[in-house]
Amino acid sequence: MSKRIFLSPPWMGGNEREMVEAAFASGYVAPCGPMVDRFEAEFAQTVNAPYACALASCSAALDLLCHELRIQKGDRVFCSDLTFVASVASAVHRGATPVFIDCDDTSWTMNPDLLAEALADAKRDNTLPKAVIAVDLYGQCCDYDRIESICENYGVPLIIDAAEAVGATYKQRPAGTAGWASVYSFNGNKIITTSGGGMLTSRDQGIVERARKRSQQSREPKAWYEHEELGYNYRMSNIVAAIGIGQLQILPEILRRKQQIFDAYRERLHSVPGIRFMPKAPYGEPTRWLTVVEFCSKVLKCPQDSAPEGAGGITLELSNARTLELLSAANIESRPIWKPMHLQPVFREAGIYGGTVSEQLFQTGLCLPSGTGLTRDDIDRVCEIMKKKGLPYDK
Ligand SMILES: Cc1ncc(COP(=O)(O)O)c(C=O)c1O
Repeated sequence: MSKRIFLSPPWMGGNEREMVEAAFASGYVAPCGPMVDRFEAEFAQTVNAPYACALASCSAALDLLCHELRIQKGDRVFCSDLTFVASVASAVHRGATPVFIDCDDTSWTMNPDLLAEALADAKRDNTLPKAVIAVDLYGQCCDYDRIESICENYGVPLIIDAAEAVGATYKQRPAGTAGWASVYSFNGNKIITTSGGGMLTSRDQGIVERARKRSQQSREPKAWYEHEELGYNYRMSNIVAAIGIGQLQILPEILRRKQQIFDAYRERLHSVPGIRFMPKAPYGEPTRWLTVVEFCSKVLKCPQDSAPEGAGGITLELSNARTLELLSAANIESRPIWKPMHLQPVFREAGIYGGTVSEQLFQTGLCLPSGTGLTRDDIDRVCEIMKKKGLPYDK
């Protein structure tokens, strides 16, 4: 069996190991320490955030924001429909009712017109949400200016879930520089990884300071353990932060490689009929965290004029599901696009504005292996399978 190609494995291409050794040597093998302070400061500088708090995960960051907003039973939250469940899980755990907003087919991120419609309805019915959670999907920023101004019109806090977008830009601003607060993930498969971890940023110092305190059990500054409110054990560890410092140093290289991987796929697959790449929004540079393609038609009629001799008129099975199977049989991991939240059994009661765009993408989309360490040979292997086996006429 040939070498396994994973979807998005971690890539330790810098001096992460040396940083971890330095953390060990310092004695701070603990959920605090100089590496945490340094990682916070360097990350804040990278994403141009005045305040940042390093946490055990992005999910923890979202939970702390829900705590800050006192989200509880009876509240509503509006969230991108096409996302990973963690974007909204914490609010729902606290009793909120989610309403999902479909994406725009030109960016695959939250459709601002649908958000405006949802907020106008909510205002009329006196059911404005406690927060809007807008997701930077697969490393592409949502339309910050439009979404932010719509939220401001209604006085609703905007949370940017930039878990997948560390290093992306929106109008030359780093991902996450919008809204009331933003969150990022350093999970094992993300742009930079700390094995697991997350960051919360905001322009509002109070939000970040309270999150920091709550992430350490809300201890009051006393010699003994004094608590005026209950907190959590959500702080990032010093060892994990050391990995993050090493990863941040190679972020430009990671982004360069991610773009190269995307370009290499496009070069090899652009002429394959029926395959479309995730569109790039005009307002920024995505991270290309994962290269995502869409199979525009499930069954493709090979056009007579583009078919090789003898192949004209064949009806070919060409779909994301078939490609996933073919790749899997060759020991290559790929993954369907996020299943839209409004189709998840757990959210069967939830409201949805739009829904057809994310449904269509779920039916047709596939995330191709995009690990930063992927070689040209690996990409050739993936593309040859897609071309030769998926499209017999393309042999
Ligand atoms: C959009 C999005 N939000 C939130 C998360 C949660 O991040 P974490 O695993 O760090 O809690 C992820 C990924 O894991 C994600 O892709």
